[in-house]
Amino acid sequence: MRWLITGGSGFIGTNLAGHLVGRGDDVVVVDDLSRGGSELNAAFLRREHALEVNRIDVSDTAALGAFLAAQDSFDAIAHLAGQVSFLASLADPRRDFEVNALGTLNVLEHVREHSPHTVVVGMSSNKVYGDLSHVAFVEEATRYVAPDYPNGFGEDLPLEFHGPYGCSKGTADQYLADYGRMFGLRTASLRQSSVYGPHQHPRSDQGWVAHLVGEALAGRQIALNGVGKQVRDLLHATDLARLFVALAESVEPGVGYQLNVGGGMGNDLSILELFAWLAERTGQEVDFVTGPTRPSDQLVFVSDNVRVGELTGWSPQVTLEAGLTALLESSAE
Ligand SMILES: NC(=O)c1ccc[n+]([C@@H]2O[C@H](COP(=O)([O-])OP(=O)(O)OC[C@H]3O[C@@H](n4cnc5c(N)ncnc54)[C@H](O)[C@@H]3O)[C@@H](O)[C@H]2O)c1
Repeated sequence: MRWLITGGSGFIGTNLAGHLVGRGDDVVVVDDLSRGGSELNAAFLRREHALEVNRIDVSDTAALGAFLAAQDSFDAIAHLAGQVSFLASLADPRRDFEVNALGTLNVLEHVREHSPHTVVVGMSSNKVYGDLSHVAFVEEATRYVAPDYPNGFGEDLPLEFHGPYGCSKGTADQYLADYGRMFGLRTASLRQSSVYGPHQHPRSDQGWVAHLVGEALAGRQIALNGVGKQVRDLLHATDLARLFVALAESVEPGVGYQLNVGGGMGNDLSILELFAWLAERTGQEVDFVTGPTRPSDQLVFVSDNVRVGELTGWSPQVTLEAGLTALLESSAE
C-alpha cells in the first residue's frame, strides 16, 4: 500500500512509519517539525527507514496542495499532524484551529477533489466528550470509577466540545464523518485516548505517562493537577499502528466512522496507581504534591473499543504491564 502520514515525525507517526516500512509499504511523510523532538524522530526515520520528512505545514492550504498535487495518489492517509496540547489551545486558540480544523479540511478537500478512493484516518480525541460532568463517579482509595460504564465509554456519549482544543478536534471529527457521508469518501475519525510507547518526547501537558515516569526517575517532585485518582486507558503505539492498517483495509465509502479507540478496560490506571507501580519496580517512592484540577479534566476516560473491534477485528495486544516495563527501561537508559 502507498501511505501519506501527516505529522509523520511525531510520536505516533514515527511508530506508524516504522510499522508500515516493515510491511514493505510505500510511505511519504509530511511534518512541519514544530514539535520538540520531531527533529530527532526525523533523523531516526532517515537513519533507520530511509524516509525523508517533507517540511510542510498542513494549515498552509497552498503549500500542502502543491505538494500533494505532485504526488502519485495514496491508498491511505494517516492524518496525524496536530496541535496536541489543551493548554496551548487556551493560549493560542487561532493557531489551534488552523492546525487541527483547517489542516484536516485541507487534507479532506484534496482527497475529495483528486483521489476519492483514498482512505483518510484522522486523530480526534476523547476531549470531544467534554468533562463528563453528567457521569456519576465514585471516589475509591486509588482511583475514580464510573460504575454505570463497566465496559468503558462508547460513542453514544453526548458531544461537548470543551476548550479550543476540544472545539478544533471536534470540528475535525465532524468534517471527517461528514466527508464520508456527503461525498462518499472512505473516512474514519479516531476519538483517541492516551497513547504511549517509544519515540514520544513528552511534556507536562502531553504524554502524561512518559512525562511522569521521567520526572519520577529524575527524582523531581511532581506537582499534580488534582489528587492523582484520574483514570485513563493506555494504548501502546505499536497497537495503534496495527489499527491503521486494519482500518485501511476495512473502512467503507459513504459512512464516515467515528470510533472510540484506546487501551480499553484492563489497560487503565490512575496516576496514584502508576506511582505505586513505579515504587514497587524502582524501590523508590515518587515525591508528589496534589493541587487544583485542570479545567475540564475528565475524572475517568476508558474507551469501549467494541465498535472499532467489530469493524476491523482489531484489539490491543500489548498489556499495560509489558508496555510500562518497556517504557521504564527506555526511560532509565
Ligand atoms: N498521543 C496521544 O495520546 C494522543 C491522544 C489523542 C489524540 N492524539 C492525536 O494524535 C496525533 C498525533 O499525536 P502524537 O502524540 O504523535 O503528537 P506529536 O506532537 O508527537 O506529533 C504531531 C506531529 O505533528 C506535527 N505538526 C504539528 N503541527 C503541524 C502542522 N501545522 N503541519 C504539519 N505538521 C504539524 C508536529 O511537528 C509533530 O511531529 C495528534 O493529532 C494528536 O492530537 C494523540
